[in-house]
Formats: sequence, C-alpha cells, structure tokens
Amino acid sequence: MRTIVIQGGTDGMGRALALDYLRRGEQVVIVGRNAEKGQALLETARETGAGDRAAFLRADLSLVAENERILGEIKDRFPVVDALVLCARHYSSIRRETSEGFERTFALFYLSRFLLSHGLVGELEKAEHPVIVNVAGPGTPMGRVHWDDFNLARDYDPLEALNQGGKTNDLLGVSFAERHAAGRIRYVLINPGSVSTSFSGDYDPATAAQIEMMKKFGKPVEQGIVPIAALVDSPPAESLTAFMEAEPLSLRHRSFDRDDAARLHAATEKMLAR
Ligand SMILES: NC(=O)c1ccc[n+]([C@@H]2O[C@H](COP(=O)([O-])OP(=O)(O)OC[C@H]3O[C@@H](n4cnc5c(N)ncnc54)[C@H](OP(=O)(O)O)[C@@H]3O)[C@@H](O)[C@H]2O)c1
Repeated sequence: MRTIVIQGGTDGMGRALALDYLRRGEQVVIVGRNAEKGQALLETARETGAGDRAAFLRADLSLVAENERILGEIKDRFPVVDALVLCARHYSSIRRETSEGFERTFALFYLSRFLLSHGLVGELEKAEHPVIVNVAGPGTPMGRVHWDDFNLARDYDPLEALNQGGKTNDLLGVSFAERHAAGRIRYVLINPGSVSTSFSGDYDPATAAQIEMMKKFGKPVEQGIVPIAALVDSPPAESLTAFMEAEPLSLRHRSFDRDDAARLHAATEKMLAR
C-alpha cells in the first residue's frame, strides 16, 4: 500500500485523486483548509470501507507556520511517503496579504509547494518510486517572475499572480531536481489543461461569469486527473519532467532556466528565514 499526500485535496482534481487512490486501496493523506469538506471526504471513505486508509489534516496552507505544523504532523504519522501531489490554489480578484506579510497567491501557490516539496524529502526517499507531482502551469507563455516584487505590492493583477505562480513552480522543479540529483525522487510539473473544477477563489462579478463558462466547457474532473494519476503511478526516469496533459514539454524553455532557479531558491530561503 502506497501513501499519497495530496495538498489541496478537498476539492477539484485533488479531491478526485484522493477518492481514486482510496478506491484503489492506497493510503491517502488529504491536506486542506475546509474542515467540512475534509470530514465529508472521510465519511465517504468510511462508507466505502476505506476509512482506515484516509486522513484529513486541516491547514490554511497560505501560512508558512501552518505548512511547518502540517509537515511535523505528516512526519510523525507517516514515516514513508510515496507521492506528494500539489494541487492547492486560490484566485483572488483583490490583493490580500497573509498575517505573515506575503501576498496570498504567492504564499499558497508557491511558498507552500516549496515548503512541502523540500520538507518531505526524508519521507519520500524511503519509498520505492518516490514522486512529487506539482499540478500548475508549465508550458504557458504567460507570466514572469517579479524579482523585485514577488508579493506584487506595487501592481497587483490576479491573473499575473497566478501566472507568476506557474513560473515560480517551474523554477522550483528545476532547483529541487538539482539539489536532490543524488536522490531517487522524481519531480514532475504538469499542466492539466482546462478542467471543470471548483476554481477556488474570490471573484469579482466579471471574472465569476468567465469562471462559470470555464466550468461549463472544461473537461470533467475524472478525465482531468488521468495524466496526473499516470505520472504518480509510473514516475518518469528523469529527475525533472514537465507535461502539458500527457504530452512531454521541452525543458529548454526559459521557464526552466537554471540560474533563475538558483536565484529564486536563494531568495525564497531568505524570505522564509525572516
Ligand atoms: N482547473 C483547471 O482548469 C486548471 C488549469 C491549469 C492548471 N490547474 C492547476 O491544477 C491545480 C488544481 O486545480 P483545481 O482546478 O483542481 O483546483 P480547485 O478545484 O480550485 O481546488 C483547489 C484546492 O485548493 C484548496 N485551497 C485553496 N486555498 C487553500 C488554502 N489556503 N489552504 C489549503 N488549501 C487551500 C481548495 O480548498 P477548498 O476546498 O477549501 O476550496 C481546494 O481543495 C491548481 O494548482 C491549478 O493551478 C488547473
């Protein structure tokens, strides 16, 4: 039995993956902020006879302290982690800062993934075929890293905040693979394409209307998770790979620049040390 940790597992693709792995007999650790949805998932697991293989850890992952607390809990309870699937994301039409002073999209979409990826290396290395699958936005031409203003304090745009998240996660993959090159963990970045999910977010009316259209025309979530589950089940041989749905992406793109990745890693360590 494998242990699959799913960040943002209370809705959308994370939830669908959680249910899929429970059905398939694996142990699933769902990390999310919504206690009601988490309890409902546990209830479904119990009803289907998978109650003893499901755990829900409640945390607001936009807070560094909460990521650190949850890391401690995972380490205490699950000494071996086979897969970490990163799915948490929240759109905010208005710029919001966490109580720790980070812009919320940057904190949730990037810092949480940085902390969980590096924080679970010890537990992942004990697994047979360990893999981290970071579900984000590799391969999109949009967005850039705002080196002098990660928190978009000067000029917040909600789409740019998400797009920067895609770019910072690409660089997280590159620096993770370089730092753990001697290890066995495979780092996979995947863009699932357009999938009809909950699209967690606080939307202004115009954006809310667009989201309704995306829910209408996106693929069903069960279809959206197919390439993600395939990568969890059979991790690629290379230490870092990127996919657009099931199609491999070239890592020669400047999104995966090694110098930028090292620069971002150093900047992230510095901001987390504050
Ligand atoms: N859907 C698409 O078309 C699409 C396209 C490209 C890329 N992606 C990427 O795929 C990944 C999964 O997307 P999705 O559409 O399946 O997501 P989703 O339905 O919007 O679900 C996001 C999950 O993140 C959780 N979350 C939000 N804020 C959180 C917080 N502060 N702490 C902990 N958990 C939090 C949500 O919890 P709640 O249950 O409490 O809301 C939910 O479980 C995302 O990284 C996204 O960028 C999606």
